[in-house]
Amino acid sequence: MCGIVGYVGSQSALEVVTAGLKRLEYRGYDSAGVAVLADGGLAAAKKAGKLVNLEKELVERPLPTGSTGIGHTRWATHGGPTDANAHPHLDNAGRVAVVHNGIIENFAVLRAELAERGHELLSETDTEVVAHLLAEEFSVTADLAEAMRLVCRRLEGAFTLVAVHADEPDVVVGARRNSPLVVGVGEGEAFLASDVAAFIAHTRSAIELGQDQVVELRRGGVTVTGFDGRPGDVRSYHVDWDASAAEKGGYDYFMLKEIAEQPKAVADTLLGRIDVSGSLTLDEVRIPASELREIDKVVIVACGTAFHAGLIAKYAIEHWTRIPCEVELASEFRYRDPILDSRSLVIAISQSGETMDTLMALRHAREQGSRVLAICNTNGSTIPRESDAVLYTHAGPEVAVASTKAFLTQLVACYLVALYLGQVRGTKWGDEICAVIRDLSRISVEVERVLETMEPVRELARSLAEKDTVLFLGRHVGYPVALEGALKLKELAYMHAEGFAAGELKHGPIALIEDDLPVVVVAPSPRGRSVLHDKIVSNIQEIRARGARTIVIAEEGDEAVVPYADHLIRIPATPTLLQPLVATVPLQVFACELATARGNEVDQPRNLAKSVTVE
Ligand code: AGP
Repeated sequence: MCGIVGYVGSQSALEVVTAGLKRLEYRGYDSAGVAVLADGGLAAAKKAGKLVNLEKELVERPLPTGSTGIGHTRWATHGGPTDANAHPHLDNAGRVAVVHNGIIENFAVLRAELAERGHELLSETDTEVVAHLLAEEFSVTADLAEAMRLVCRRLEGAFTLVAVHADEPDVVVGARRNSPLVVGVGEGEAFLASDVAAFIAHTRSAIELGQDQVVELRRGGVTVTGFDGRPGDVRSYHVDWDASAAEKGGYDYFMLKEIAEQPKAVADTLLGRIDVSGSLTLDEVRIPASELREIDKVVIVACGTAFHAGLIAKYAIEHWTRIPCEVELASEFRYRDPILDSRSLVIAISQSGETMDTLMALRHAREQGSRVLAICNTNGSTIPRESDAVLYTHAGPEVAVASTKAFLTQLVACYLVALYLGQVRGTKWGDEICAVIRDLSRISVEVERVLETMEPVRELARSLAEKDTVLFLGRHVGYPVALEGALKLKELAYMHAEGFAAGELKHGPIALIEDDLPVVVVAPSPRGRSVLHDKIVSNIQEIRARGARTIVIAEEGDEAVVPYADHLIRIPATPTLLQPLVATVPLQVFACELATARGNEVDQPRNLAKSVTVE
């Protein structure tokens, strides 16, 4: 997720664009850049690091004054956060500049074709190919909007593109597919942005672009077409958010916005990793397949929510690859003298990529000669930099301290790694892998369905605001989900919450059950290992018989739990190992709503930091 701004009008484009980028910096902050059209030419500046680095650059080396320009704050996906990889990207003649949000899946093929035609590409990004393609098409069309339509028809993946050409000094062109882009319409000026926060200081009259549309901005107005050139339907609206709300997409908290972004985050994490034959192509996993075939143990190290993702990954890795998999709290890992060698694959899961406990654990693993694969959401952060290989999640920046979309994308990445290990080791056939990939490809829609049915969960959460304890039970992959639900409640509502393996109840915890004690139970699918489902139904009966208020998360069609559920939360039926992707979402919403009912600060809970960079 990146921040994009475009402007054409009578104001200083540089001032409008950089102010807009400030409003969007939460969307990406590992590099930033701008391009301005002036004096018949195009001038650009871009710097790695936060926006302030670009602003210093612009003071030291000012750009010419112009009234047409574009800008970008980057959340890196392809290529680390360097000056060269920062947007905007230009063609070799320096006449076209383009900024991009999203993932162009077929960029490698396009890059190779451009190189064969003599283009020199200077970055590691997928975006740069668009600048060169636009230059080629513009040399024929002499019309940037038409050039953009022609290029977009060749791109695969999710993208928002905004471009300018020095030969059209009063034009900015944008395009979108599966990635947001809104137009701001002012008096004699027009704006393009990833979200309205960038321009509501200038205008509240907006147009939301639809799928596969191209928009041409001129001072006198806006023209919208499809990629096919036909006039596009235009949905105008008035923005009634204030700037702060706009940064949160209209939500009260970043956490709510990030919960809502989970369907797209899951879909984006799958993008570009499955080739045309349906096989996995995890090209960032730069550990040779020959070495992966020699692995005899997987050890996952992580903290907090990432640790819970690792616990779920264990089930998938062992089931699909038959390799033993240990999951360790990173803070405990190196102090127990773990048994590691060159045939151990250590997987370090971290949203921030800066968690010191996890970093120290992977350093210890490498000292023992093990290969380390990072699963990380922050491109270029320390943990992937110190790993042998990395699989980036594409959740976009996660601002709220309580991790939500990063968790779901960590699960997706873990499933992909497990399938990839199965693929290279031959323990999963191609058709079996394709079947799981198809199931994963449907999850984005399933998560959306869950999000649409959360009002009863919010009402339930508010009704429990005065409670001082909630327990969470689960079996199999539902057990780490129970742990994650408890962690969310602890860190947001500041209340005692504990997750248990349901089978452990009778070994002690059942003594905690008392009248009206809320107990959330994550029920496994009755279609999976039915013995687990029967046992969880018994567990629900046991606790209810002792007075518990049972809150049961169960898949649609599971009628066996109904007689024993005081509150029933339905989730879509999914394959057993993938259920955490849908079962976790109600627990995120539950914890967030209960914390809100208690008047807590949801995005920055007390005593917590987003990235724990100390041991
Ligand atoms: C999760 O809600 C917490 N914010 C915390 O447990 C977090 O998951 C943990 O600190 C690990 O962070 P990382 O993923 O950035 O390494």
